[in-house]
Amino acid sequence: MQLFIDSANISEIKEVSNLGLIKGVTTNPTLISKTNSSIDETIRNISSIVDGPISIEVTKDTYNEMLEQALNFYKINPRNIVIKVPMTYDGLKLCRELSNQGIKTNITLCFSVSQALLAMESKATYVSLFIGRLLDDNQDAFEILNNIVKIKHIYNFQTEIISASIRNVKQVEKCAQYASDIVTIPYQVLKDMITNSLTDKGIIKFKEDALKIVK
Ligand code: G3P
Repeated sequence: MQLFIDSANISEIKEVSNLGLIKGVTTNPTLISKTNSSIDETIRNISSIVDGPISIEVTKDTYNEMLEQALNFYKINPRNIVIKVPMTYDGLKLCRELSNQGIKTNITLCFSVSQALLAMESKATYVSLFIGRLLDDNQDAFEILNNIVKIKHIYNFQTEIISASIRNVKQVEKCAQYASDIVTIPYQVLKDMITNSLTDKGIIKFKEDALKIVK
């Protein structure tokens, strides 16, 4: 399973990419709105740090508008840009067109097995299942993830499953257990994955005992 960071914050991305654990970045309009940058600037900034897939979401509604916007994003960094496309009728049409042009896509706002199936049939490079929002809605997010993973393997779809909308460490662990291809993780959750109170206690004890070692 690969780890991506779900952030548009340049200092967060820089910090975690130094660990070498992060293989890609996902953003959305909400995350970009929290920065002082335009979408184009965000693409340029992230591209200067990460040499991996960078998902950027189109914000227009119609097929033609989304296609124009997608091609403009793509031109900024053809090597790494992944066009994030909403799970709509026009979005699926756009996904197929971009895939045919060799441009990577990420179908986002996916909440069901049926939607994931359509994304996979539309040759999406990635499909993003929103785990946290499903759980907020009292749906069995992990059962849905499990079924999508099964279907992918039964029919040999090439689309990679991204578990998104992650709220805590336990959810990351569950996504790994259910064989999600990728989990995209907010900065704070990534930091929380590093720490454990028993590790902290252990460090204190070892430090105390290190002082007792004969010189
Ligand atoms: O990037 C998509 C997804 O991760 C959004 O998460 O927390 O807004 O549900 P959230």
